[in-house]
Amino acid sequence: MKKGRKSLSPGTLLAPIPPAMVTVGDFENSNVLTVAWTGILATQPPKTYVSIRPSRHSYGMLKEGGEFVINLPPVSLAREVDFVGIYTGKKVDKFEKCHLTKKKSEKVAPPTIAECPIALECRVSEVIPMGSHDVFMADILSVSCSEEILDSDGKMHFERADLLAYAHGEYYSLGERVGRFGFSTDKPEKKTESKDENKKPFYENAPKGKSARRKPTDKNKGAPHGKRKRGDGK
Ligand SMILES: Cc1cc2nc3c(=O)[nH]c(=O)nc-3n(C[C@H](O)[C@H](O)[C@H](O)COP(=O)(O)O)c2cc1C
Repeated sequence: MKKGRKSLSPGTLLAPIPPAMVTVGDFENSNVLTVAWTGILATQPPKTYVSIRPSRHSYGMLKEGGEFVINLPPVSLAREVDFVGIYTGKKVDKFEKCHLTKKKSEKVAPPTIAECPIALECRVSEVIPMGSHDVFMADILSVSCSEEILDSDGKMHFERADLLAYAHGEYYSLGERVGRFGFSTDKPEKKTESKDENKKPFYENAPKGKSARRKPTDKNKGAPHGKRKRGDGK
């Protein structure tokens, strides 16, 4: 990035973000829409939000039911994600049109989409008008994931989920994993004697692979997502 910077008009240019498939209603009478305005508000208690325009068919269903599921789609569902974000459930059954499989959720009435590897079941705690959209703040009551993204120790492998990303009107796949939380603090495994190596900034001498300091212990090895003993920075 050698060129200068250009000032742009104020806007919603935050990227990448998840283009979530949000389900509302109950199992029989449900609807699904795409929501990119979503995120995490707090770790404890686990809280999230979705921002929905009052003109959406889903808006009334969400106001009435007070529950939703954030289904995170894989890249293979990009076309369906776009479709449910263009057509309204007022006129078409989007589950049927997109061949999406409804699965009973554990704690809430709206269905989980079986084809999505990760799903967050949420109950609305507050609705805040925010201009064009209303923000539905919610407690995350339950999280489920497809067994295919877990290894035999129950550890989650996000690369297996192949999640879809969204950036300013375009859909993307995630690139390669470039590190994990805390990897900047890893110590080099061996001190190198090479003069050239010593000329490099300290962070370039850090080992490329596993952590030298944070070898998996019996305590944290394979701990399921969200149950690690150490802080995860979230
Ligand atoms: C990638 C993408 C992201 C979207 N994000 C939002 C959003 O955050 N909030 C919203 O109200 N609508 C959003 N939409 C638009 C709705 O998904 C769309 O209007 C949908 O057809 C509403 O369906 P419904 O009428 O069945 O509720 C998005 C659409 C797309 C394609």
